[in-house]
Amino acid sequence: MATIKKAVITAAGLGTRFLPVTKGVAKEMFPIVDKPTLEYLVEEAVASGIEEVIIPILKEKTEICRFFERNEYYEDYLTKKGHPELAKAIRYATTLCKVTIVELNDLKGLGYTIYSLKDYLGDDPFVVILGDDLIITKDSDPVCKQLIDAYNRVGYPILGVQTVDKSVTSKYGIIKPGKVDGRLIEVKGMVEKPKDNPPSCYAALGRYVLTKDIFECIERTEPGAGDEIQLTDALTKLDKLYAYDFIGNRYDIGDKLGYVKAVIDLSIERDDIGEDVKGYIKSLNLK
Ligand code: G1P
Repeated sequence: MATIKKAVITAAGLGTRFLPVTKGVAKEMFPIVDKPTLEYLVEEAVASGIEEVIIPILKEKTEICRFFERNEYYEDYLTKKGHPELAKAIRYATTLCKVTIVELNDLKGLGYTIYSLKDYLGDDPFVVILGDDLIITKDSDPVCKQLIDAYNRVGYPILGVQTVDKSVTSKYGIIKPGKVDGRLIEVKGMVEKPKDNPPSCYAALGRYVLTKDIFECIERTEPGAGDEIQLTDALTKLDKLYAYDFIGNRYDIGDKLGYVKAVIDLSIERDDIGEDVKGYIKSLNLK
């Protein structure tokens, strides 16, 4: 089976849930203390064996391009000022893997975005990581790796799911499960953001391993929820589709509460400020 070397990390959304800040800063660049979410996502891909990351953006999001380009002037400046560790920190993102940034002309939904990258993706299977979905794993493999391993077992496209509360199923792509084998679930159908009667509580949470078959399915997909070409609708046209109930903590960083949770949880884990953050939270004496 072909090895999976390419990942798409989507960063084209407008971030409307986070206006006004997203008028000036892409949500994918929001810092989790001092590191943008996007850098976490690229790290996850690389730790899962990915060699090239393709990032579709809107042309306004130039800060994303800047972040993945070397800035030798700034590196020299920091080194001369006695901060070689900071020079290293700003170079780091440019050394992780090949990063290809693709400017999109139009936003017509996730399916449309993936289709726009057809020529960059070629014939081999690839990973899709949604730029809003930060998934942190501690004692298990990165979530992309969990999915790639599952793909290598079943040989069919697969998406990462977790169960969510029934009250929030209308925010997600929800699968209709078939046979369940451990964490592996056969997918019998899928609905994007079901208004009522969700087929289950298993929600797609931003990770997919796809094959080139998806392109032809997207071609046959009419605009769906939100009048957009939905990846979910195209997935239902595949001959066979699996879901994998992955291990990991997922944060929706495009959502205010989700973002704040990520900052709190990940800052507590840090060596430099973790204890101080915990002390501060305790001092609040929250009831
Ligand atoms: C997208 C997908 C949806 C998925 C969700 C996960 O929706 O279309 O199927 O459940 O991401 O975050 P969005 O949140 O971009 O509207």
